Amino acid sequence: MKNRLNDPEWKRAMKWFYRYLAKYKWKEAVGLVLVTICAVLNIINPKIMGIIVDDVIGDGKGISERMGILPIAVALMIGCQFVRAVIRLISQWLFETCSQDMLYDMRDGVYRSLLQKDFSFYNRNRTGDLMSRQTGDMMAIRHFVAYVIYSIYENVLLFVIALIMIFSVDWRIGLAMMAVLPISAFVTYLQSKTIKPKFMKIRDRFSSLNAFAQENISGNRVVRAFAKEDYEIEKFDVENAAYRDAELDAAKVWTKYVPIFEVCASFLTVILMLVGGIMCVKGAMTLGDMVIVNSYLWMLNMPLRMFGWLINDYQRFTTSVVKIYTTVSEKPQITNPSKPKNEKKIKGEVEFRDVSYKVEGEPILDHVSFKVKQGETVGILGATGSGKTTIMNLICRFYDVTDGAVLVDGIDVRDMELHTLRDGIGLAMQDVFLFSDTIEGNIAYGDPDCTLDQVKWAAKMADADGFISEMPDGYDTVVGERGIGLSGGQKQRIALARAILKKPAIVILDDTTSAVDMETESQIQKDLKLLENETVFIIAQRISSLKDADVILVVEDGRITQMGTHKELVAEDGYYRTVYEHQLGNLKSQTA
Ligand SMILES: Nc1ncnc2c1ncn2[C@@H]1O[C@H](COP(=O)(O)OP(=O)(O)OP(=O)(O)O)[C@@H](O)[C@H]1O
Ligand SMILES: [Mg+2]
Repeated sequence: MKNRLNDPEWKRAMKWFYRYLAKYKWKEAVGLVLVTICAVLNIINPKIMGIIVDDVIGDGKGISERMGILPIAVALMIGCQFVRAVIRLISQWLFETCSQDMLYDMRDGVYRSLLQKDFSFYNRNRTGDLMSRQTGDMMAIRHFVAYVIYSIYENVLLFVIALIMIFSVDWRIGLAMMAVLPISAFVTYLQSKTIKPKFMKIRDRFSSLNAFAQENISGNRVVRAFAKEDYEIEKFDVENAAYRDAELDAAKVWTKYVPIFEVCASFLTVILMLVGGIMCVKGAMTLGDMVIVNSYLWMLNMPLRMFGWLINDYQRFTTSVVKIYTTVSEKPQITNPSKPKNEKKIKGEVEFRDVSYKVEGEPILDHVSFKVKQGETVGILGATGSGKTTIMNLICRFYDVTDGAVLVDGIDVRDMELHTLRDGIGLAMQDVFLFSDTIEGNIAYGDPDCTLDQVKWAAKMADADGFISEMPDGYDTVVGERGIGLSGGQKQRIALARAILKKPAIVILDDTTSAVDMETESQIQKDLKLLENETVFIIAQRISSLKDADVILVVEDGRITQMGTHKELVAEDGYYRTVYEHQLGNLKSQTA
């Protein structure tokens, strides 16, 4: 087995965890001091019981004279229990608040780190997997801080105190009690070694189950549309069973080891009865001493019984820390430059200088060059999969170019502060995503402090004001996840309004009017002309959406094959004219 302490990933993960705990270490320490007091108070009651047996009950003589001690002794015992209960209450509260506060910080940290991840990170990770980092794994960590740390400490402490006390009563019986230690230490080692990979498997299966459920709930409409419920249930059952089996697999380990700890614990009683009994009979030990040792016995027993469970919890905790850490520690490739060269706001000039972009050696864009002045409208036409969205992704620096450079206002985007760059761009993505919020909230997303008039202005520009006003709650209408309840074209127009609301220097409309009718689209085209200072990129499949652009780029297979105005491109032999004639033909046949 790999030695844990030498495993650098494990070490780094633990350091990461400790950074969060460190903020609350004093709270945790005070809690542990209180636990220590509680544990030490455990010495008192057995002592008193020993006194009662030897001095009060004794051999039956003189009971009446010594009866006076009894009420004091009982009051002391009750008082001691009361103090312990109060201390325990306070320590529990300390551990609880410490764990909740730490978890708050940790969730926040993990969430921040997730928001900084690259697009490529989200291409590789499933939402459900990432969700389980924030839920199941966090719970295991909280449980460790709120319960496992102090339980391990308390149990070790109880065990040591009990041993010391037993040794102080009689070293021979102490030694006999210690005989079980090597056995339980060996069992601890074995259990810990066997259970670790099982917990790793549990975490993987849990993530997988979560991811599956998340994907199916999100894609529920597709499942229904294809009447694939049974098929999906079958697949879910496989995931579900895999998770159950992983849990059972781990359970098999502890059901095997926990009884061994139990047996070790009950051995202690046997040893006491045997060794203590013989010593009592021989007069080497008083009955009171035997009662004292017997009353300490639970303090030896309990840790032995608990150890199996605590190892379980500890391993669950380390697995979860490692899992979260591996997700968090993945550094984003797209980061802020150390010395940004940009101004506070961008103006909107865009240049692609011999840009190539490859994914795993596969060329997506091939030597793309063009230059756009501030305030120009650029149309982009190209077959599906030709690389149009990729060009836009590079302007926003969602990915970095493999070769060449993308310049905004003459500055390489890699030298620009990311926030300034992206804040200056209004992007209406091809795949519209609306938040579960009101329409107003969705449109105002880029500038939540804007007025309702500004929201209405943006909606009017996107020709959305009409249908929004007709809704019973108007701008206060809540649109569900992904804007359910709205038509495709309506969603697109809200996304368009959202993109132009903050009057960004660069507006990117990626196929944003594909789902709206021709009439609405021509209205939107007219409105967009009012954006005089903004550089506007319009990606579209319809010539009607592009023909008024200052310049039109034709993208074929990751290359720009044609560039010019509508007039120029229609006169040229090429993809643009083919599409134009095709669409014109369709229009004529429709109107004929
Ligand atoms: N993250 C990615 N990883 C690997 N390949 C990608 C990635 N993103 C896009 N591609 C590939 O790059 C090519 C261009 O994709 P892009 O999305 O730019 O096309 P597009 O012109 O916008 O198409 P559409 O008109 O269908 O939106 C496609 O072949 C696509 O499969
Ligand atoms: Mg696209």
